[in-house]
Amino acid sequence: SDTELGTYPHYMIKEINEQPQVMRKIIKEYQDDNGDFKIDDAIIKQLNDADRLYIIAAGTSYHAGLIGKEYIEKWAGVPTEVHVASEFVYNTPLLSEKPLFIFISQSGETADSRAVLVDIKEKGYPALTITNVVGSTLSREADQTLILHAGPEIAVASTKAYVAQIAVLSIVAAVTARELGKKSDLNLMSELGKVTTAITSVIDDASTIEEIVKNFLETTRNAFFIGRTMDYYVGLEGALKLKEISYIQAEGFAGGELKHGTIALIEDGTPVFSLITQEKVNLNTRGNAQEVAARGANVCTIAMEGLEQEGDSYIIPRVDEMLTPLVSVVVYQLISYYAALHRGNDVDKPRNLAKSVTVE
Ligand code: G6P
Repeated sequence: SDTELGTYPHYMIKEINEQPQVMRKIIKEYQDDNGDFKIDDAIIKQLNDADRLYIIAAGTSYHAGLIGKEYIEKWAGVPTEVHVASEFVYNTPLLSEKPLFIFISQSGETADSRAVLVDIKEKGYPALTITNVVGSTLSREADQTLILHAGPEIAVASTKAYVAQIAVLSIVAAVTARELGKKSDLNLMSELGKVTTAITSVIDDASTIEEIVKNFLETTRNAFFIGRTMDYYVGLEGALKLKEISYIQAEGFAGGELKHGTIALIEDGTPVFSLITQEKVNLNTRGNAQEVAARGANVCTIAMEGLEQEGDSYIIPRVDEMLTPLVSVVVYQLISYYAALHRGNDVDKPRNLAKSVTVE
């Protein structure tokens, strides 16, 4: 059944391996009879009525929200903000006239997000919850719900839910764009299909990624993740994943910010993961990687096919540039998994963490 380990040693690796099937399920669940993407009319109405979207989330779900904002703004042209729930509730920004609140939560039970939901409902604003759990608190208390269809996620470190969140957000953005009459060259349906194949190929190549862990993370106490635009957001998630289960101190930041402080931490052998999937910032991020390499950093470059250079450590298959997070994150998930495994940590139940945090 969905909640049994089967032949896998850990839930985390099981759930990483389930990601292609989660992608296929989402593509299927969000299709109408004509084979076009659809979402409920009531949700389309919510989106059409709003002048600004406020995405509220915590942890990994917050990182998915950062990617979702890019889709909604770039494809549908609707201004979107992404906020950490625990900050928003005590430091609410100035709101637009017609806000729509979108709660992203794997469990649908996170207390920080719920506190915002209770507050905005009292003020009479509309809410949409995107969650993996049918009937969860955030789903019941919002006006509308979109389901992630990722199946039960048992490992504390979130993997397939993040990929599902990004995929569903891409569909929401594409449908909104269509409803608003925006022209687009992107065939999201077929591009998500290519993404699914690319995720499978990264998973099949897990032994190469295990080698990366041996070369870059076996003895280190810290690690850095750099990238720009989409790759910056995935770096934040890569760093969080690594912290959560390997206990290696990790930080993700924008490649351009490196020189404004963090570079002081680079020592001989410090691992720096540099993600390259966006053509327009390829050379900028590579320049940042050179700056740290010159100071002794052990740079691991993960590049997308077509943007690679000699000496890169890992090449991910080519997919649409907006959709690369769905593939590149899988490399980081596997890096974290093997780093934790090699350190003898409890991969599925890391110390001090809970799967869902129901206190503020
Ligand atoms: C906890 C989990 C994280 C998760 C966060 C938000 O801290 O350990 O993995 O990202 O909660 O959870 P949610 O269920 O709201 O997505």
